Amino acid sequence: MSTMFCQKCDQRAAIRMRQHRLMFCRDHYLEWFVEQTQRTIERYHMFTLADRLLLAVSGGKDSLALWDVLWRLGYSVDGMYINLGIDGEEHYSNESEQYCRTFAEERGLSLQVVNVKQSFGQTVPELARLRHRSRSKPCSACGMAKRHIMNQAARDGGYDVLLTAHNLDDEVAVLFANTLSWNVDGLNRQSPVLEARDGFVRKAKPFCRFYERETAAYTLLRGIEYIEEECPFATGSKQIIYKEILNKLEEEHPGIKLHYYVSFLKARQQQVFQPGAAEKVSELELRPCPSCGQPTTNQGLCAFCTLVSKAQATK
Ligand code: AMP
Ligand code: FES
Ligand code: ZN
Ligand code: ZN
Repeated sequence: MSTMFCQKCDQRAAIRMRQHRLMFCRDHYLEWFVEQTQRTIERYHMFTLADRLLLAVSGGKDSLALWDVLWRLGYSVDGMYINLGIDGEEHYSNESEQYCRTFAEERGLSLQVVNVKQSFGQTVPELARLRHRSRSKPCSACGMAKRHIMNQAARDGGYDVLLTAHNLDDEVAVLFANTLSWNVDGLNRQSPVLEARDGFVRKAKPFCRFYERETAAYTLLRGIEYIEEECPFATGSKQIIYKEILNKLEEEHPGIKLHYYVSFLKARQQQVFQPGAAEKVSELELRPCPSCGQPTTNQGLCAFCTLVSKAQATK
């Protein structure tokens, strides 16, 4: 194979992106990646330099790469790590926390850590067992707990926007799941930026147009250390199967994932996916949870506080 060169200089290419017909050396790739993030932030009117941002970091490659990029771009961004109490082979949650702490310390950034066991008495897998005894995986309870804790932290801290590092592969896997079941409400809620409403803070996903391979290349070329182990409960999940199918499609048709996502966003903007009648009713019925004050459609405690109170009752 002939040597490939950077499109901007005469260095050897460190990465080739067939989907964009681009090739860059290390330095030009890092530059391109930071510029593209800024373009996405502006394209979807996510936030400005005046906003106070809270980024949910998992210790994985995407969220640490996003923190690095936003810091370089001069945004005012604090991190928040949720220690879920997941063990795994390498004490998954504690190791992930350590990567976040080291990253923040090295750059003088501020990191808030919420330890679920310490704050709510039980780990997420323990709480999940109380919810669905028959289910072996805690993933749905975990997702609910993470969303709850993230929103609470952003509200309590008075942040303007809550950020996550979902990448294009994450977004198209969710899109695929939502279209397979024609989940119109889900499709309507899936967006690079969601406005604040009724106690939910504004949310944004600045990496939504990057392929996972691109965020991985950034982390690697920048020399950021991150947890390589995946959550031990992730194996065999539907999300992973969808990602594999979409990767096969991408191999045959470079660019198809981005096309799928961008054309979805266009359709969404044309209001193809209007919230159904049920969603409109439930929106009206949002009320603050009597325990934590966060919005819920439940009559009493929100789903998270219900779970925590159940855990306390069984002690
Ligand atoms: P996931 O749900 O694992 O695909 O992660 C999606 C995004 O949620 C990540 O990019 C992070 O921004 C955030 N996130 C995931 N796990 C955690 C965690 N334990 N603590 C804080 N943020 C997290
Ligand atoms: Fe929550 Fe895997 S990260 S169950
Ligand atoms: Zn170059
Ligand atoms: Zn509550």
